[in-house]
Amino acid sequence: MLRMLYDSLITDHRYQEAVWLLHSEGYDNEAHRLEQWLMHSMSSVAAVAKEKLGGGATRTYLVTLANGISGVFKPRQYNPSANMYSEAGAYRLDRLLNLNIVPCTMIRKVHFFRHAGSFQYFVARARLASSLDEAQQTRPLAMLLLDFLMDNRDRYPGNYMYLDAMDKMLAIDNGWGLRGNGIVETIKGYCIDRRNSRQRREQITFPVDQRFDARLFVNLQNLKVPAILHSFIPLIGTTATLKLLDRYTIVLQALMGQLTGSENPASCPDPHVRDYGSGT
Ligand SMILES: Nc1ncnc2c1ncn2[C@@H]1O[C@H](COP(=O)(O)OP(=O)(O)OP(=O)(O)O)[C@@H](O)[C@H]1O
Ligand SMILES: [Mg+2]
Repeated sequence: MLRMLYDSLITDHRYQEAVWLLHSEGYDNEAHRLEQWLMHSMSSVAAVAKEKLGGGATRTYLVTLANGISGVFKPRQYNPSANMYSEAGAYRLDRLLNLNIVPCTMIRKVHFFRHAGSFQYFVARARLASSLDEAQQTRPLAMLLLDFLMDNRDRYPGNYMYLDAMDKMLAIDNGWGLRGNGIVETIKGYCIDRRNSRQRREQITFPVDQRFDARLFVNLQNLKVPAILHSFIPLIGTTATLKLLDRYTIVLQALMGQLTGSENPASCPDPHVRDYGSGT
């Protein structure tokens, strides 16, 4: 059954979906190999077509590569809520924690555009969470955790998707998170966003009421500080990486609290223990 499903996904060029299937069945090594291959082809194969996608403030395009894989390309742009480093960083965080909700994303050059941009695997059969009944829009713990760690305040139902065939929620449009605290003021200052700006001013609180499963717990514990520094400083810079580290520490403390049954330190609403200035 698994084999048949896997083969049909590969035949349809639905490689990211195949990776998620392998992970969900515990074939992590096989998933990892396919993931490496996908990452490599998405980074290197030439683009053959582009079309405009979405009508938001962001310049977003659907770009198809010569091997048939499509991705969402956002060239480097002045809209501060679309940041290619954050998009790529979200995928990196997803991989470090094995969350399996962010489609493969990298920074690359596409010859149609002057600047490099973020390129994210296009999950063709997914639909926006906004198309679901409100009761079905519940975000999974992996997404709450991802957004808490990234301090991403832009996760409204137009920025996550549902993949019926795999009963899976996906985190797209991750360009808001993984910045210094100054981004909140920057976005307000630009006044370019029609969406509810109150949401952007509010702190995201850690999902204290949720129970972490054993696998997620182990992944969080195994994530070491040098690995975070090594992965993120070259991508998002020191300020944003230190902020990520602080939030990671809050999560770990909360988990320890859950284990020992002690008062949960993450219920403290303001996780920012340092002043990061206004860098983005
Ligand atoms: N990885 C993906 N797989 C499938 N569809 C996607 C993916 N990323 C984006 N989309 C589709 O493209 C639309 C626009 O993408 P996205 O939200 O990232 O860009 P945006 O231009 O920032 O939009 P807005 O500014 O309106 O939020 C999404 O609403 C979704 O329908
Ligand atoms: Mg969007």
